[in-house]
Amino acid sequence: MTRSPAQRGTPDVGRARSGSFRHGDDWWRRGVIYQVYPRSFADGDGDGLGDLPGIIDHLDHLGPDGLGVDAMWLSPIYPSPGVDGGYDVTDHTRVDPVLGGDAAFDTLVAEAHRRGIRVILDLVMNHTSDQHEWFVGSRSSRDGPLADRYLWRDPAGIDASGTPLPPNNWVSWFGGPAWTFEPARGQFFHHTFLAEQPEVDWRVPAVETAMFDMVRGWLARGVDGFRLDTFNVFLKHPDMPSNPTRRGTSAWTRQVHLYDFDQPDLPALIERFRAVVDGATGRMSVGEMFVGTLAGAAALTRDRHLVFDWDLLGLPLRADAFRRTIRRRERAFGLERWPTAVLSNHDQSRHVTRLAASVGAPEHDRDAIAKAGAAILLTIRGTPFLYYGEEIGMADVAIPPHESVDPPAARVGPDFPWWDRSQARTPMPWTGGPSGGFTSGTPWLRLGPDVAERHVAGQAADPGSVLSWYRALLAARAGHRSLQDGAIQVVSAGDPDTLAHVRSGPGPEVLVLIHLGAGACRARIPSGPARTWSVVAATHVDPATRLAAGRSLELEPYEVVVAVAQDR
Ligand code: GLC
Repeated sequence: MTRSPAQRGTPDVGRARSGSFRHGDDWWRRGVIYQVYPRSFADGDGDGLGDLPGIIDHLDHLGPDGLGVDAMWLSPIYPSPGVDGGYDVTDHTRVDPVLGGDAAFDTLVAEAHRRGIRVILDLVMNHTSDQHEWFVGSRSSRDGPLADRYLWRDPAGIDASGTPLPPNNWVSWFGGPAWTFEPARGQFFHHTFLAEQPEVDWRVPAVETAMFDMVRGWLARGVDGFRLDTFNVFLKHPDMPSNPTRRGTSAWTRQVHLYDFDQPDLPALIERFRAVVDGATGRMSVGEMFVGTLAGAAALTRDRHLVFDWDLLGLPLRADAFRRTIRRRERAFGLERWPTAVLSNHDQSRHVTRLAASVGAPEHDRDAIAKAGAAILLTIRGTPFLYYGEEIGMADVAIPPHESVDPPAARVGPDFPWWDRSQARTPMPWTGGPSGGFTSGTPWLRLGPDVAERHVAGQAADPGSVLSWYRALLAARAGHRSLQDGAIQVVSAGDPDTLAHVRSGPGPEVLVLIHLGAGACRARIPSGPARTWSVVAATHVDPATRLAAGRSLELEPYEVVVAVAQDR
């Protein structure tokens, strides 16, 4: 892995890191993180593809004069052939010139820091692109310094037709075998994802050394944290035995994945990674648990190292489902480990689409559902991750197959249940102008059909919009410590369709009522820690309304009330 000139001995360009950041070194628990998919956020140079200058132009949307988030996570910005939307990297130390290059990145960090926004990079360290110099160097020869950096294995044998047989039965998440034969080497290489994403061998010391040097390089450039792509796959069983099989609906689910990820020495590797990151103060990381369980996510969580679990993403829009899942997550994480809160990301259907579909809600309920979703995300215990566009209620966009930018989608078949992630990665509409103000050129991916009515500028000027609601909720969160890192207790508001919880911690308690029903209901203000609650953010009632414990309250469909304890 080469180091860019900018990374060699670069002084800390995070010098803008000053008193303007909120929450001190605790920001990874108390703050809110916003995910940017750079190719679709904003295009600064008119080539139709989003880029870093585009992000710089729109930092005020994220900063204190806009949403007021604490950090942004950039999906991969490295040079990439783009067969997996940037998650196929050719050089982890550089910024893709197509996205603005290294100079634009350093400007972005400085400009973000100036606004109190920290920058989190997506580290794809499980695999590289097949165009990466390491792979190119190891592909043709079993000798030389790069020969052993990938998981090369001999064929298990040769079949009757002379075809080499793969070393074991492992399959790729994206369909087909997890092994591809390389005639020049006479060996197979391993890939959990596409064949264009060969997997590095983390058991080879030179791999770990190079990866950690690369991490140090980004820290020196002022990066505040990292998202670790599929981090529980880094290590495989050293002998790579075949997985046991079972009944299932796809090649992937017909195996018990004992040996291809979640290995016992993973925690030690995470500790070594954290020791590198802790070489700079106040830096966090968050691991993406690949097909992991809630218990697995909790077990790998550490101070300053969060782990995504996926239980909230699969839920229908029903209060009982959220109640149960919040309680289950609380039991799994306990008070000492800190969870994340996620409803959408670049791999999933957008939550407003998913949640509305789960109850067959009509289109005119979309904004109300988006607001209820925001209330869940920003008031339960855990660091919230907002996915770009959700703050204006962006939905999935139907993409015709020939316009897809997600190559695995072309392989969908009875044995490969997948969907086209392009639908959730469409360009952000900023204005009602051509292409939603996303680009002055031709957008790389079509925008939603509602771009003329649904955009940031319009919603910023409308106090009843989804965006204004996000801003109000984020302000309430910033102003009330218990919403940031308080404990959560799910309580009863006397109505089955109303999700109710109390956050308590430093500062006064906060009560949250989120009505997830499509009809009106009558809820009761729980008699909990306070006799009176004062509204700090609400979709329907006026702010500062006082609510007496025990009093009943009529709630409209998807109405939300957030109130702070007044008198005890
Ligand atoms: C992660 C990314 C996903 C990518 C995969 C392989 O799951 O979130 O987008 O396809 O890793 O890199």
